[in-house]
Amino acid sequence: MMVCYDSKTVFSFMKKCLIFCIICIFLISVYYGLPRRNQNSAIAITFSNSSNNKDMIILLWYWPFGHSVSLNGHTCWDLYKIPHCILVDQRSYFPSADVVVFHNRELIQGSQKLPIELPRPQGQRWAWMSLESPANNGNLQKFANIFNMTISYRRDADVTTPYGELLPKEAGDHVVEESPANKTSLVCWVVSNYQDNHKRSDVYNDLKKIVPVKVYGSWANAPLSSTDLLPTISRCYFYLAFENSLAKDYITEKLWNNAYKSGAVPIVLGPPISDYKAVAPNHSFIHVDEFTSIKEMGEFLQQLANDQKRYSEYFTWKQEWKVKLRAHWTEGFCKICTQNRSLPQHKVYSDLETWDKVNYIH
Ligand SMILES: *[C@@H]1O[C@H](CO)[C@@H](O)[C@H](O)[C@H]1NC(C)=O
Ligand SMILES: *[C@@H]1O[C@H](CO)[C@@H](O)[C@H](O)[C@H]1NC(C)=O
Ligand SMILES: *[C@@H]1O[C@H](CO)[C@@H](O)[C@H](O)[C@H]1NC(C)=O
Ligand SMILES: *[C@@H]1O[C@H](CO)[C@@H](O)[C@H](O)[C@H]1NC(C)=O
Ligand SMILES: *[C@@H]1O[C@H](CO)[C@@H](O)[C@H](O)[C@H]1NC(C)=O
Repeated sequence: MMVCYDSKTVFSFMKKCLIFCIICIFLISVYYGLPRRNQNSAIAITFSNSSNNKDMIILLWYWPFGHSVSLNGHTCWDLYKIPHCILVDQRSYFPSADVVVFHNRELIQGSQKLPIELPRPQGQRWAWMSLESPANNGNLQKFANIFNMTISYRRDADVTTPYGELLPKEAGDHVVEESPANKTSLVCWVVSNYQDNHKRSDVYNDLKKIVPVKVYGSWANAPLSSTDLLPTISRCYFYLAFENSLAKDYITEKLWNNAYKSGAVPIVLGPPISDYKAVAPNHSFIHVDEFTSIKEMGEFLQQLANDQKRYSEYFTWKQEWKVKLRAHWTEGFCKICTQNRSLPQHKVYSDLETWDKVNYIH
């Protein structure tokens, strides 16, 4: 009996030793497996936390438009409270990166290229990113069968990074904002890039025959500084939040910032009403498609502006909701970690061009 008990103890002690050694070797190999160059203590600390939950490494192959910010390994936690998510921009991390992000603009312009010559580590995903409408994404046929993930404002992208979104108001948030008074113009538009072939130009030209439309922006020789923009729009009953291209889910800061933050009711032209309804507050906008003619729309706007009660109903959503604008590029990159769980094991965009151009009008 004694002998048996002893050997059991010895065996259990050896087992503990072995497990301890394995954990040590694992931690050491994780630590030293990292590229040493430019490594700072922040990243080392983060990795030492990783014995229970695996950290995800997101590698930015280059910064969109060259707008870099310095990263310290804690960026996703510090800025967005997203845990276990390491954002890096040093290419030496390629072998250990879970996701490598490529911003489309530089690829189609040729200033950056894909590292197709590098062997892609098992399980690594390549993400295609663009916040442009299909009109400005170029021809993506050459990117067939390369990417595993999309990052875009589109709701059906793997990672959705909209120009703005609604958040429920919290106790500390200041109360509204009655429907803003002191209006001096009925309809306002701000336009720098005026093109005859844009649908929005047709609508503008028809509308101004029915009601006065005050135009700002460089096309009208009335440029607005960024500090003047919202105060100017706030003096208009209606603001033409007209997108320059009509594409699925392409709803930009014209709605989220220029209209919602100023206190003018947006008249929207862009994707179909259903796309707006999916993301924007109820009864907060007027869609051009709601009318059978621009004349009918013009008359509707005139009546609405003269009816304080009905007009103010377009602001009741502000009692419950607030608008959050897209913060920074890093927000979308860190969001990859949050989305990872809901992505399929294996995914390849075999025809990115068709995916990009879906429901694209012009
Ligand atoms: C690492 O773990 C400690 C203790 O669990 C925690 O306080 C710290 O915030 C963690 N650091 C990161 C970057 O997750
Ligand atoms: C109303 O607008 C005018 C300019 O049109 C401005 O001078 C005035 O200060 C505004 N009043 C209020 C209460 O905002
Ligand atoms: C808008 O109204 C629909 C029903 O009419 C409701 O289900 C939805 O939650 C509302 N959305 C918002 C943002 O209030
Ligand atoms: C991310 O998702 C993939 C596929 O579902 C999975 O294999 C991988 O373990 C996940 N990574 C992390 C860090 O959760
Ligand atoms: C990513 O795409 C490549 C290229 O098509 C493919 O070989 C790889 O299996 C994909 N990886 C994942 C995790 O889906």
